[in-house]
Amino acid sequence: MSTIAITGAAQVLRPQADGLSYLRHDCADEQLAGPGSLLIEGETIAGFEASGAADVRIDATGCAVIPGLVDCHTHLPFAGWREREYELKIAGESYETIARAGGGIRSSARSLAESTDERVLEQAQGLAREMLAHGTTTFECKSGYGLSPEGEVRSVALAATLRESVTQATRSTALLAHAVPEGYDRSSWMDEVAKMLPAVLAAGDVSALDIYVESVAFSNDDLRRIGELAAEHGLDLRAHVEQFNWNGSVPVAIELGARSVDHLACLPDDRVAELAESETAAVLLPGAEFLGDERLAPGRALADAGAICVLGSDLNPGTSPVLSLPLVIGLAVRRYRWSALEALLACTLNAAWVLRMSDTIGSLEAGKRADVVVLDGPIERIAYQFGRNPVAAVIVGGQLAYVRPDFVRSVR
Ligand code: NIG
Ligand code: FE
Repeated sequence: MSTIAITGAAQVLRPQADGLSYLRHDCADEQLAGPGSLLIEGETIAGFEASGAADVRIDATGCAVIPGLVDCHTHLPFAGWREREYELKIAGESYETIARAGGGIRSSARSLAESTDERVLEQAQGLAREMLAHGTTTFECKSGYGLSPEGEVRSVALAATLRESVTQATRSTALLAHAVPEGYDRSSWMDEVAKMLPAVLAAGDVSALDIYVESVAFSNDDLRRIGELAAEHGLDLRAHVEQFNWNGSVPVAIELGARSVDHLACLPDDRVAELAESETAAVLLPGAEFLGDERLAPGRALADAGAICVLGSDLNPGTSPVLSLPLVIGLAVRRYRWSALEALLACTLNAAWVLRMSDTIGSLEAGKRADVVVLDGPIERIAYQFGRNPVAAVIVGGQLAYVRPDFVRSVR
């Protein structure tokens, strides 16, 4: 069994108690970031004493050692980009106007339909490599640009192929209600979703269903239907809600036992408590908020109220072509006024919980899978040196998967 010893770190980020599924954000300081070492044996974290012999030694002097970052909200795989739309948005066009004029999700659906599987996978694999270099060791994939029964089946199948060809672990979500496809209305598309679901589930290992609730997309009644389908098939319910308007979807999602509600830019202050008291995670996407000049989710209030707060990149060709979780952390710290510990909790343990993986990843604990990131400075510097990538080395499942060229001399 091969061993990796990471020694002399200025900070090793660990929860105070082992075996947690998640940590509510009012307890974010129940994590320690003191000096230390880490020993990896095979695929697993063996402990925090690393003075003996090891196959690989990493000198982490001045560095922070943190759990591999978990991106629980991405729209991979997709085809191409939509930079022209960003120009339109900067010039003052709204997301809604662009969407109604055939842009937005529909335009990415056309690109996906016109692309070969090879081209789609090549783009996604390239992005996965960049994500790895930014510390992402697990990510979620969503369908949703298929916009036809065949297209959604293909999308889930592409995510399954991607899983086999990237270094990271992935989880797959079927976002079957993303935009109303041409030739349908909401209700006839929802009937189609129920019909296509067995084929979608057969195409890949899907763990959750997702829906976009918004004036340009689906309604709370549709959310209920997706919730029922998820329950019927033993899948988790995730939902894009309250991004551009307050639609009152959060209470519906909580009632349905949703694993997460994502976006929340328009969640009013007086609706924070009910979410914080529930076991539905609040997935915040500050990259989309920033680039879309959206309202700001009540991140500080959610954290103070003890919500299970989570951060994601929302990597997609429309609202958030952002893959860097260090950048997302920088936005969250500045704009939600979160501490480094709060921001890291949100894209490690709590994000792993959203994906039902927190028993094996998301924190540095003996016995967990060795997904580990070495940063070239203290954790507080991630947000402070905004836009810079602080990742020096990444270990996935006990394998050294990435070393930044200038850090090679610290690895022996
Ligand atoms: O999470 N809001 C809906 N879905 C995506 C955007 C998709 C797109 O514009 O292509 C999101 O922001
Ligand atoms: Fe999204």
